[in-house]
Amino acid sequence: MSVGIVAIDGPAGSGKSTVARAVAEQLGWSFLDTGAMYRAVTVEVLARGLDVRDEAAVGALAATLTLTTTPRVSVNGRDVQDEIRTDTINVAVSTVAANPLVRQAMVERQRAWAHDQPRGTVVEGRDITTVVFPDATLKVYLTASAEERARRRGDESARSIARRDEADSTRVTSPLRQANDALFIDTTARDADEVAGEIVQCLTNRLSS
Ligand code: CDP
Repeated sequence: MSVGIVAIDGPAGSGKSTVARAVAEQLGWSFLDTGAMYRAVTVEVLARGLDVRDEAAVGALAATLTLTTTPRVSVNGRDVQDEIRTDTINVAVSTVAANPLVRQAMVERQRAWAHDQPRGTVVEGRDITTVVFPDATLKVYLTASAEERARRRGDESARSIARRDEADSTRVTSPLRQANDALFIDTTARDADEVAGEIVQCLTNRLSS
């Protein structure tokens, strides 16, 4: 059973993945990119020709899929690592992720995964601090200016990012929002390793108090 959980949420391009990986590395803990899971489900939904808005069909499919995120992202054994960040997936993923049946299936997997980690784990996404692990050892909300977030996402247009942010924060089920007790960090002009250091320091203080 996992000895600790660092939960990190934030909008696209806020630095979640880079910072979460660095925190995991500094601590010797594992790391879970939950966005990759929603993206992988979306790849499979489109590959099967389903309508992304068909909640019942998409939800039923999500519940049956075998997903891996490390060392590479795969669905039912098929490597989809190179497909998950294409424009097609950027456009469709927020609709799939708004589906409550899909969320239920992903949250179950995320909790089971964390439970099985021999050491601690760092998990990042949109609902990790609010829904998946509301009792995490440390909760963090990362953000950055819209310009900086678009710059970091050279491969995705500012419009597409804004559309995804809007959909993710206004959906009914598990919208992106800052948990009251989350450590808030604006990463705009900051180096990822330095932000990771601040998070590790905060976790260390918490564990020793
Ligand atoms: O890397 P970026 O922040 O741009 O996106 P991501 O973390 O790969 O997540 C892709 C999409 O998955 C988001 O826009 C959300 O729609 C969805 N997502 C979610 O709903 N809940 C999560 N815990 C993680 C991602």
